[in-house]
Amino acid sequence: MTALDPAHPAHANGRHKPSVLPFGPVAADLDATDRVFASTLASYKTPIGGLVQHLKHYRGKRLRPTLLLLVARACGTVTPAHHTLGAVVEMIHTATLVHDDVLDEADTRRHVRTVNVEWGNKAAILFGDLLFTHAFHLSSTVDVRACQLIGEATNRVCAGELKQVSERGNLHLSEADYFQIIDGKTAALTEVSARMGALYAGAGDEVAEQLAAYGRNLGLAFQIADDLLDLVGSEQTAGKTLGTDLEQQKLTLPVIHALAKLSPAEANRLRDKLRTGDAGHRAHVASALAETGSFDYARRRADEFTRNARSALTCLPASECRTILEQLTEWSARREK
Ligand code: IPE
Ligand code: IPE
Ligand code: MG
Ligand code: MG
Repeated sequence: MTALDPAHPAHANGRHKPSVLPFGPVAADLDATDRVFASTLASYKTPIGGLVQHLKHYRGKRLRPTLLLLVARACGTVTPAHHTLGAVVEMIHTATLVHDDVLDEADTRRHVRTVNVEWGNKAAILFGDLLFTHAFHLSSTVDVRACQLIGEATNRVCAGELKQVSERGNLHLSEADYFQIIDGKTAALTEVSARMGALYAGAGDEVAEQLAAYGRNLGLAFQIADDLLDLVGSEQTAGKTLGTDLEQQKLTLPVIHALAKLSPAEANRLRDKLRTGDAGHRAHVASALAETGSFDYARRRADEFTRNARSALTCLPASECRTILEQLTEWSARREK
């Protein structure tokens, strides 16, 4: 039995069992990563302490440190540097979410109220900044290479988010532009997580490059699945505000596909609907996308990235961690949370 099996003990007592990630072999390392994360921010008192406390009820799936640690274990030995770097990638990720919820005007994240709703947009922006700067400071405790890798990846994440903001309301967004956005905002961080897991376990450049490709492809599948959830997922299961892509007029893969499939007149009618940014149209838009086969198309594209990710793993010897990394690719494309 691998840890991805629902019957695996790693899933016992999970609050949201169906989506608990298979930490099994790296559970203790993930705890160590959590401790680095918490201790980095532990000294803050009121008023920042309140925001830091909020993060304790605000724990997500921890996909990025999980990838980093599983890759490290699959390549060799997990070291204290991995624990620190796991905290770094989770901190960068958390910072982007705090900012993203401001941009999307979202009120729920990880089943609780967002920082922007609880403390306001100004505090949310500055708290996100604080998390970014702590992440960079923390990576400087590892070495210069870690700072460079994290810096390059975060540049890509921010550029992806900025491109998305600048394309907001562009109802003619191309598929190539969509992929450029998600490659930056999401895949850059999963890529660097896998890359650093490998490099700090002593893997050679070629293996690290393969594992970076694994992380990147998994990230692309993960974001396509997220964009599907935004259109047809359940807020209760996902634990976050959905429908914001439509509200913010951010075009995602199924919508781009439908607009290309429909006749020009039908496509313009769909654009008129999208232009209102009315979340009440979610069901309507979803049924139009189902008719054009656009959800199936997006799932097929996600599956392509899943396959690419799996084939990149062939550089690793067989092991329990490699099996879990393989299974994580499918989970990323089909997740409900
Ligand atoms: C949410 O990421 C943002 C995306 C890249 C889609 P996660 O789904 O990993 O969020 P948490 O950390 O589990 O809340
Ligand atoms: C992911 O995009 C955002 C980041 C990578 C910061 P989304 O806007 O789709 O993420 P969710 O759906 O709010 O989690
Ligand atoms: Mg969002
Ligand atoms: Mg989303």
